[in-house]
Amino acid sequence: MTSDPVRLGVVGLGRAFMLMIPTFDADPRVKLVAAAAPRQESRTAFEQEYGGKGYESIEALCADPDVEAVYIATPHQMHVDHVLAAAKAGKHILVEKPLAISMEDADRMVRAAREAGVHLIVGPSHSFDLPVDLAARLIESGEFGALRMIQALNYTDFLYRPRRPEELRTEEGGGVMFSQAIHQIDVVRRLAGGMAEKVVAFTGNWDPKRPTEGAFTALMSFAGGCVANLTYSGYAHFDSDIWMNDVGELGQAKDPASYGKARRALMDLDPEEEARLKSTRTFGSGAAPIEAAHNEHFGPVIALCDRADLRLTPDGIEVFGDTERRFIEAPFGPAPRKTVVEALVRAVREDVPPVQTGEWGLASLEVCHAILRSAETGQPVALQHQCNAHQ
Ligand SMILES: NC(=O)c1ccc[n+]([C@@H]2O[C@H](COP(=O)([O-])OP(=O)(O)OC[C@H]3O[C@@H](n4cnc5c(N)ncnc54)[C@H](O)[C@@H]3O)[C@@H](O)[C@H]2O)c1
Repeated sequence: MTSDPVRLGVVGLGRAFMLMIPTFDADPRVKLVAAAAPRQESRTAFEQEYGGKGYESIEALCADPDVEAVYIATPHQMHVDHVLAAAKAGKHILVEKPLAISMEDADRMVRAAREAGVHLIVGPSHSFDLPVDLAARLIESGEFGALRMIQALNYTDFLYRPRRPEELRTEEGGGVMFSQAIHQIDVVRRLAGGMAEKVVAFTGNWDPKRPTEGAFTALMSFAGGCVANLTYSGYAHFDSDIWMNDVGELGQAKDPASYGKARRALMDLDPEEEARLKSTRTFGSGAAPIEAAHNEHFGPVIALCDRADLRLTPDGIEVFGDTERRFIEAPFGPAPRKTVVEALVRAVREDVPPVQTGEWGLASLEVCHAILRSAETGQPVALQHQCNAHQ
C-alpha cells in the first residue's frame, strides 16, 4: 500500500466542486491533477490554481494515466455517461448524489463499476457528516438498545436558489426529490442500518412558477422494526437551521439578517438570467468558497432508542439517557467532508469500500422513486433494492 496522495481528476467545475474545494485543499491525502470542463475559463482557472491539466471531455481526462480516480460533479442527467466512461477507463469513481435519475441507469452504473473492478462511491451526501456517522456507530454498538423511531426534518430555501431550467423539471431530476430527499434518505438509512422495507408518502408541488416537487413527507419502515418520518420543505419561509444552533447546512454560521434573501434574488428573473446567476457560483467566477466552522448537517434529526434518545447537532450528539444527559463531540476540522476523502482513500489505497457504494446509492434512489409513486397512487410502496450499511 502506498501513502502517496490519491491523484484525482475532477469532472465538472460548478457549484458542487466549489463546495468540495475547502476539503480537497485541506487534505494532503488527495491531489487534484486534472479537470474536465466545457468552459475554457474554468479549465484555465483550474490549471492556474492547481497546476493540473484541463481537458475538454471526460474521455480525454480518463486517457491521462496520471489520473487514478475521478470526482464526477456534473448535472444529475450526465452522471450515467460519465460514470460509464470512467469505469471503461478503469478509474475509481466518486460521483455526486444522486447516483442517477432512473433506476435503470443506476443499475447499469453499478454493474459497469463491478465489471471494471473499480470502486464506485456516491457522495458527498449528508450521510458522510461526522455526527451522522457517530450516531450510526453508537446505534450499531447496541449501547442504547433497539432503535425504534427516527424523525428527520428540514425546512430550507432550496426551491428559490438559482437553477438551470431542468432543475425545475421532475422527470429530468429536478425538484427536491433527487437533490434533497436523497440526502435525508441517506441519513435515515445510515442510522437505521440501510434495509428500508416500505414507504408511504405525500408530496407538495405548490408554486406554479416552479412546477416541481418542493416538499414531501414520508414514512419509511425498516427491517428490525424501526420507523422513520422524513419531512422536507424547500419553500423557504421557516428555516429549520434555527433549530441547529443557527448553523447552516454547510457548517457555516447563519446570518439572521439574510432572511428572505433567496426569494428576493430571484424576483423578476427570467430562466436565462436565473441560469446565469447560478453560474456566478461556479469555479473560476470569483465566487468565494463557504467558510465552515462546524460539521455539515441536513436539518434536525432525532433517533429514539430503548434506553436513550439521540439528537444530532452540527457539533456532535446530545444523548438523553434514562437518568442523565450528555454530549458526545464530533470534532470539526480542518474542513468539512473529510470523511468523503477518507472513504476515497481507503477504497483506492486499501480496497475497502465505504457504506456509500453504488449499490447504496441505488437503494437510496429507489426510495426517491417510491416517494413519488406513493404520492401519486396513494398507496404504500414496497422496496426491492435495499442493501445494509455493511454489505
Ligand atoms: N453534495 C452536495 O452538497 C451537492 C451540492 C451541489 C450540487 N451537488 C450535485 O452536484 C451535481 C452538479 O450540480 P451543481 O449544482 O454543481 O451544477 P452546476 O451547474 O453548478 O455545475 C455543473 C458543472 O458541470 C459542467 N459540465 C457540464 N457538462 C459537462 C461535461 N460534459 N463535462 C464536464 N463538465 C461538464 C458545467 O459546465 C458546470 O460547471 C449534481 O448532481 C448535484 O446533485 C451536490
